[in-house]
Amino acid sequence: MRTIAWLLLLASSGAGAAEDAVRLADGPGREAVEANCAICHSLDYIQMNSPFLDRTGWEASVTKMIKAMGAPIRAEDVPAIVEYLNKHYGK
Ligand code: HEC
Repeated sequence: MRTIAWLLLLASSGAGAAEDAVRLADGPGREAVEANCAICHSLDYIQMNSPFLDRTGWEASVTKMIKAMGAPIRAEDVPAIVEYLNKHYGK
């Protein structure tokens, strides 16, 4: 019983922290990024990788999330997401 309560606590505090911690730059495409990229991990993955990724890098990264990680992102949302990531978080 105590184990279950502990796990629930962990799960809820983790989700709250991810939402509070990261606020992405304003701009077209931000909503698509927030809706599609926060499902599996925190949005700070985007900020952490901005020094390394240019447009090609972000395109490859988004493709990898879809193909390798199974991200349920619609194909028509990808250009807006890549555009946004390159503009605000491109190196
Ligand atoms: C289906 C789950 C899922 C979704 C949705 C997802 N990712 Fe990821 N992402 C992962 C996993 C799994 C990893 C690698 C494991 C880890 O370090 O947590 C990862 C890692 C990353 C990394 C670190 C570098 C790397 O390639 O390992 C970046 C940057 C990233 N994701 C960006 C994004 C962006 C941008 C989106 C939205 C377009 C996104 N992710 C959506 C699962 C996902």
